[in-house]
Amino acid sequence: MSETDFVVQCRGLERTYHDDGVPVHALAGVDFDVEQGEFVSLAGPSGSGKSTLLNCIGGLDRATAGSVTVGGVDLATLSSSELAELRLRRVGFVFQSYNLIPVLSARENVEFIMQLQGVSAAERHRDAMAMLDSLGIGELADRRPGELSGGQQQRVAVARAIVSKPVLLLADEPSANLDSHTTAELLQLLADINEQRGMTIITATHDPAVMAFARRRIGLQDGLIVSDQRAEAGG
Ligand SMILES: Nc1ncnc2c1ncn2[C@@H]1O[C@H](COP(=O)(O)OP(=O)(O)O)[C@@H](O)[C@H]1O
Ligand SMILES: [Mg+2]
Repeated sequence: MSETDFVVQCRGLERTYHDDGVPVHALAGVDFDVEQGEFVSLAGPSGSGKSTLLNCIGGLDRATAGSVTVGGVDLATLSSSELAELRLRRVGFVFQSYNLIPVLSARENVEFIMQLQGVSAAERHRDAMAMLDSLGIGELADRRPGELSGGQQQRVAVARAIVSKPVLLLADEPSANLDSHTTAELLQLLADINEQRGMTIITATHDPAVMAFARRRIGLQDGLIVSDQRAEAGG
């Protein structure tokens, strides 16, 4: 296996925050690799460092020590604007609170990232509709987030995250605001995206349903990896 087969490589990754001058080691030396096409769940109690790890991988936060490599690029070598480009073109994010823009329709929310990328209006419109259709919510394209259920909003957020075909989809507690039935539907959607599109997915969760679903489960505690297990198949 060559280096480029790994979508993510973390080596001795540390992230230290200072809380009133007191150092908090959110990540205390994390080493792991994620291969192209994996579906990984970062599991651990609140405060174990899951969000910090996703944010360091996605270029929303920077390591204090050690390295994070995404698609063969060491993120420490990138300027702030290059990190923004990475987030725009190579990494898709899904958050627990959906983070849709309230005044835009579902379709316009999906188009938004493409607009930032400079994709033409006609192409944006076509790709956004195709993505919403493929996720089973094409008929909701003209509704604003406030007119959608939580599960529908999260589907729109997933559509927005993957419409530009990022190499990596990061989902931080994606089911935290969903009931168990809607969580199951979201997990099936993520599994389909992983299998049918070959997209690499890393979720952070303390939801046992999400942990059970991923094919690889990495346990975090106090900013360290304490377990790394692979299951047979998802579902
Ligand atoms: N911006 C910040 N400033 C200070 N401490 C932080 C900050 N972000 C996270 N932390 C601390 O880092 C640790 C890990 O947090 P986090 O990555 O959010 O964990 P998780 O997502 O697993 O709940 C916690 O102790 C948290 O309080
Ligand atoms: Mg978190």
